[in-house]
Amino acid sequence: AERAFVDALLARMTLAEKLGQLNQPPGVGNNTGPAAMAGSEEQVRQGQIGSWLGTQGAELTCRLQKIAVEESRLGIPLLFAYDVIHGMRTVFPVPLGEASSFDPEEVRNAARVAAVEATAHGVHWTYAPMVDIARDPRWGRIVEGSGEDPYLGSVLAAARVRGFQGDDLAAPDTLLATAKHFVAYGAAEGGRDYDVADISERTLHEVYLPPFKAAVDAGAQSVMASFNEIGGIPMHAHRGLIQDLLRGQWGWDGLLVSDYTGVMELMPHGIAADREEAGRRGLHAGVDVDMVSAIYLNDLPAAVEAGRVPMSEVDAAVRRVLNAKYRLGLFEDPYRYCRDAGREQALTLAPEHRAAARRMAQKSMVLLENDGAVLPLSKDIGTLAVIGPLADEPWAMLGNWVGIGRPEDAVTPLAALRERIGPRTRLLVAKGAQVDGDDTSGFEEAVRAARQADAVLMFLGEHPEMSAEANNRTSLDLPGVQEQLALAVAATGKPVVVVLLNGRPLSTGALQGKVASILEAWFPGVEGGNALVDVLFGDVAPSGKLPVTVPRNVGQVPIYHARRNTGRPPEKDNKFTSKYIDVHWSPLYPFGHGLGYTTFEYGEPTVERARVPLDDPRQVVRVRVTNTGPRAGTEVVQLYLRDDVASVTRPVRELRGFQRVELQPGESREVEFTLGFEDLALYDARMRRVVEPGTFTVFAGGSSAAVQSARFEVVAR
Ligand code: IFM
Repeated sequence: AERAFVDALLARMTLAEKLGQLNQPPGVGNNTGPAAMAGSEEQVRQGQIGSWLGTQGAELTCRLQKIAVEESRLGIPLLFAYDVIHGMRTVFPVPLGEASSFDPEEVRNAARVAAVEATAHGVHWTYAPMVDIARDPRWGRIVEGSGEDPYLGSVLAAARVRGFQGDDLAAPDTLLATAKHFVAYGAAEGGRDYDVADISERTLHEVYLPPFKAAVDAGAQSVMASFNEIGGIPMHAHRGLIQDLLRGQWGWDGLLVSDYTGVMELMPHGIAADREEAGRRGLHAGVDVDMVSAIYLNDLPAAVEAGRVPMSEVDAAVRRVLNAKYRLGLFEDPYRYCRDAGREQALTLAPEHRAAARRMAQKSMVLLENDGAVLPLSKDIGTLAVIGPLADEPWAMLGNWVGIGRPEDAVTPLAALRERIGPRTRLLVAKGAQVDGDDTSGFEEAVRAARQADAVLMFLGEHPEMSAEANNRTSLDLPGVQEQLALAVAATGKPVVVVLLNGRPLSTGALQGKVASILEAWFPGVEGGNALVDVLFGDVAPSGKLPVTVPRNVGQVPIYHARRNTGRPPEKDNKFTSKYIDVHWSPLYPFGHGLGYTTFEYGEPTVERARVPLDDPRQVVRVRVTNTGPRAGTEVVQLYLRDDVASVTRPVRELRGFQRVELQPGESREVEFTLGFEDLALYDARMRRVVEPGTFTVFAGGSSAAVQSARFEVVAR
């Protein structure tokens, strides 16, 4: 039915109307000046706009939709797209924080809530999830993804797609998910956003493509092209990867959108002499929707008429836009997302949404250090000094790309502490320093407060504008004088707990051994303050794990757990091995690290079959985990795999499974993982996906540094 409907509609469209469907102007938001709106409305009437970026609100989207449906010649409904990255109005933790939960179901639910709120605001299409693997924490957009690991990234990419799109795309509370940015955007040289991704074909296929494949397999209806080039070809002109791989080999039939002015940028990339050539190359590569450049609309008509662009390419792109509208049910009822303004009101910041955001935030926090089990704190601790620039800053809760989130919705740690401390506890508050800058004049007051306290809570980190798009840094240190402030406060000898609010891994090694505890909270969202206090007082134990390796300093970048070995792996007493002379080769904190308020012990893993036939490559691995500490807790049990000897080099270990397990004190559980073809396979020298005979080692534990292992062999029958 979709095919027949779209074909019939396409047959009635003029070239101008077709190109109009491929045109996506920048957002008008809610503050639409009457003049700007007048121009845009006329464009809608003329059929020159197929979708709109950054436009939301039941009233506004309905008004524009009415013009499209009732006043344009063919009445084709508009698509409204919005960057709903980690919540619409109910802001969840930043995606890197969510990834720390290693909890696909909770992450799916966060995307579901975002979809419910966004669709109630008339949004049909979100530019999320961002599934870019990021192995360079200098890159600001590391905050928007799931970190460094392709396996974790794939699992969470699929979870988010399922959350946004639900089971039925035509339901009024589901929207199109966009896997972005296709592809290798996170491999930007030097961590500079938009820069060249100079990676091998192997790295592309092993590391950067898998999360896109997972998103597409989960049904993602949209993909966004990335700003980078690979091997001399900008992604907005990369027919090989878009048309041949994504659409051809993977069989994906969704809608591919450019990034903001991505088509136009083929000119500064130096592969298009003028706008028309940029448009021709973009369309030919398979970029359907031209975001903001307006090149398809204005510069392709002459090219099509002169035969420089085949009509079949235009039709293919238009068909995909119309398919998306059809799948959303917009031809049946163009107002289904915006008609019910009551829904918009009722769902915005609904209590169950805030509860979900709080749960997600609790699970996203990673306890990096807890010397002397200073955490959890007693609510009746006595005097608690609250120090640092981020203790009471609502904006520091939300992070970047916050939908329509507002700082005033956010609960800060200080506000939550004031609500929740016991009657015998007194708070002493001192800012101490700003996030950035070199002003140390607040140190004295902070140190004085610490001296009077029984324990100190410090809230340090980054400004949200220090991560996310274009916010790249050459340092991974705490900005400004915050580290000095922490050291000055720690010098009082009081137990100091540092809470980090930030969007990238920070090299806080100088605090190790000086402060008692470090809790990585990322930007935790509107319920961040409440969730933090839940964790700090032990109402909820921390259970997050690092989705990224934390370097000792920026000079170690790139550093990630699934590295390939060299012929000279690092060795302490052998100078001529792969390491530095000034810093140990290991990271500050390994991928997967995260403590709780109890301790877990792992047994040796066991494998079901010592010998696995090559033509039936399945294995079951079991590992016993015991809660050996005094409190209940949740552990993320992780399974890593190494192909010991292969025809090509393999990573020293790769994550191939994880499970969150809740255990009472003394409780023990056997956790089971099943490995299949995809887990054991590699790309051979000719890039064929194969399992090879030979031995494999599995490691099970609470981080990528797990030592308990077992071995099995894959054998040809
Ligand atoms: O979706 C974003 C993309 O991630 C970065 N450039 C702008 C787009 C639309 O806002």
